[in-house]
Amino acid sequence: MSTYVALKHLAVPAPQAPSGFSLAPSRQSPRLLQLDFPRETLQAFLAAASEWPVQALEYKSFLRFRLARILDELCAGSLQPLLINTLMDRASGALLISAEGLDRVEQADDMVKLATAVAHLFGRSNFDAMSGQYYARFVVQNVDQSDSYLRQPHRVMELHTDGTFVEQDTDYVLMMKIDEQHMQGGNSLLLHLDDWEELERFNAHPLARRQLRWSAPPSKRVDRDLYHPVFDNDVEGRPIISYIDQFVQPRDFEEGNWLADLSQSLEGSPHKLSIPVPVGSFLLINNHFWLHGRDRFTAHPGLRRELMRQRGYFTHAKVLRQPRQ
Ligand SMILES: [Fe+2]
Repeated sequence: MSTYVALKHLAVPAPQAPSGFSLAPSRQSPRLLQLDFPRETLQAFLAAASEWPVQALEYKSFLRFRLARILDELCAGSLQPLLINTLMDRASGALLISAEGLDRVEQADDMVKLATAVAHLFGRSNFDAMSGQYYARFVVQNVDQSDSYLRQPHRVMELHTDGTFVEQDTDYVLMMKIDEQHMQGGNSLLLHLDDWEELERFNAHPLARRQLRWSAPPSKRVDRDLYHPVFDNDVEGRPIISYIDQFVQPRDFEEGNWLADLSQSLEGSPHKLSIPVPVGSFLLINNHFWLHGRDRFTAHPGLRRELMRQRGYFTHAKVLRQPRQ
């Protein structure tokens, strides 16, 4: 039986059986689903999309949705409801997506097209201030001069959610591997909020819903501070989180120490998943109840890793009670 047929609460009517892709629970967790496009679907999609270079998608927002429809049609209409329902499903909310034959850095533009099509079946990717586009590609190398841990290889990037310091709703995060050379380690780390042993303790604390200040370093190109709590409730009253250790600015001793305890508890969770993401594959998660991070790498002079990300808001379903925008 397909995994999604068992979902209790569907955001949209359940689709017929998957067509044009396959779906199975991942090796790491039944919460994380593995979705694979066979070569035929990928080739048909890229052929249909060939008239639009990535630049056309950058200039004309509506083409991203057209690309999405093309991909869904190749899947006989079964992909869109599957994606919407899975991302809204509290028991899952995460996919690792791959396409057969899409696995070399020379295919980077094709990777952007496929990820764009998938994302625009359930959402719209936000403007990314770091790149000035609706997506951002960035490189991690052995030496880095940046002002956050985003591109520093030899450290763990601690568990966090995205969009903590921006005004746009950030319902989903898509993280794609475009290139990887001389890489050892560096798996993606994921933690589902409901798998965290101390959720209740922190969520029930008086500071859980206090408005805290969030601000970003200059490279993020966001010049205004934002105020919101770490925990909130979703439209159905379940706890959700908006948190990143580097950009929260505690006001005093009490806030600072509570945040330090929170960070220690999250990092120490034995339920963290460690996910290898192959070149050409991408993780897609609900950003309200999945935290993500990155494990450390082993130093190597030839180390190179290129990633692509898209973050955005859901267009078919709502998680937040009060959207920021
Ligand atoms: Fe992130």
